[in-house]
Amino acid sequence: MQNEVDYLKVVGRVRASDLILKKRSGSALSEAELNYLIDGYVQGAVPDYQMSAMAMAIYFMGMTEEEALFLTLAMVNSGDTISLEVIPGARADKHSTGGVGDTTTLVLAPLVAAAGVPVAKLSGRGLGHTGGTLDKLESIPGFQTDLSAAELIAAVKNIGVAVAGQTANLVPADKMLYALRDVTATVDSIPLIAASIMSKKLAAGPGSLVLDVKCGSGAFLKELEQAYSLARLMCGIGNGAGLETIALITSMDQPLGRAVGNALEVEEAILTLRGEGPPDLEELCLALGGWMLCLSKKVSDPEAGKDILKALIADGTALEKFRELIANQQGNAAVTEDPGLLPRAEKQVTVKAVKDGFVVGLKAEQIGNAVMALGAGRETRDSSIDPAAGIVLEKKIGDRVKKGEPIAVIHAGHASSSELVYSVENQIISAYEFEDRPCGKQQLVLGLVDQKGR
Ligand code: URA
Ligand code: CA
Repeated sequence: MQNEVDYLKVVGRVRASDLILKKRSGSALSEAELNYLIDGYVQGAVPDYQMSAMAMAIYFMGMTEEEALFLTLAMVNSGDTISLEVIPGARADKHSTGGVGDTTTLVLAPLVAAAGVPVAKLSGRGLGHTGGTLDKLESIPGFQTDLSAAELIAAVKNIGVAVAGQTANLVPADKMLYALRDVTATVDSIPLIAASIMSKKLAAGPGSLVLDVKCGSGAFLKELEQAYSLARLMCGIGNGAGLETIALITSMDQPLGRAVGNALEVEEAILTLRGEGPPDLEELCLALGGWMLCLSKKVSDPEAGKDILKALIADGTALEKFRELIANQQGNAAVTEDPGLLPRAEKQVTVKAVKDGFVVGLKAEQIGNAVMALGAGRETRDSSIDPAAGIVLEKKIGDRVKKGEPIAVIHAGHASSSELVYSVENQIISAYEFEDRPCGKQQLVLGLVDQKGR
């Protein structure tokens, strides 16, 4: 049958249309075919319209784990890679699939570095309702994120940690493909997401990787089964490419912590590094951080890793490392003692409960959109953002609320009209769901996929 042929091995030449047909018929593409496709796409020999059809065929027919690995490696090879091997010690990395108010990188980078494991983190800017780590860090006065690969390596050698944007030409195939998927309704394909994320991680050359796969109403994967599929595939790709990778599946049914917004989340990270942060954010940072220490061979199991991290928070070492990180990237490190030095919104408006009850739901996506409306996020890549804008949630799922009690505080810039603030207030009120009885305790860590894909 036509679709059983490996065109490059058997026929010696190939047309993209044959590969689209092969995928559409449900066959697996070979390594050589995927290399041809990705190379051709980046070099212009395979046009957007054929790649669009291929993305849609992959969306419907899926990919085997081996195929997804070959696709990922072809994407890695489309651009530069960073060699972090020159940094002594086991370099730990983490990646979250994106949540609302997800402040974990700000906490984890200094926390894990304080335990003696080097962290060279390449992060992104926010787009849509999930915030970007770079935007958060840039709310610290003076903080610079545009480090060259050489500067990144020097910083990590020097103080054990750096967080920067990517300046090298890493994975150009992903930039092109992601933009194409965005406009062809093919973003939410599990193999395409896995290849996109893992190609960028592999190109940045860490020693090991801990993935935080978000699941729930505020994540792009709403169902646990989908989250497991993505986690298993990403772990399969990582470990298949020689990068030790595990994944935690964690709940994104409500925003993480209390703060959502750039400077507000920096303040929340400082509190967490002092041991005074919200319990869910601390729990997640310890769970991810424990695994980062474990994969870096600092400890033999993640629970032992958590104990080390708790001690580093308790004795001030973790906060001191954050201070060093900020100072090393030209930021005003005094914010760690006085978060009042961070940008502050001119208007702070308290939102009050309209009835008595227990919080049983807090729609993360809706809070994320409200924060966007306040100017804290980007609608397009070029939008500018207000570092001070955001929302602080005073009540979370499980909390009891009395009518008239504060449930949230809106932080709005002077340019925000009273109509905007009023509409944000209504969005917050409708994001909260109340019942007469409390719901059971919300589980934060929902599952684990280890190096063996189990
Ligand atoms: N994040 C990515 O980097 N790529 C995707 O495809 C989805 C989320
Ligand atoms: Ca938060």
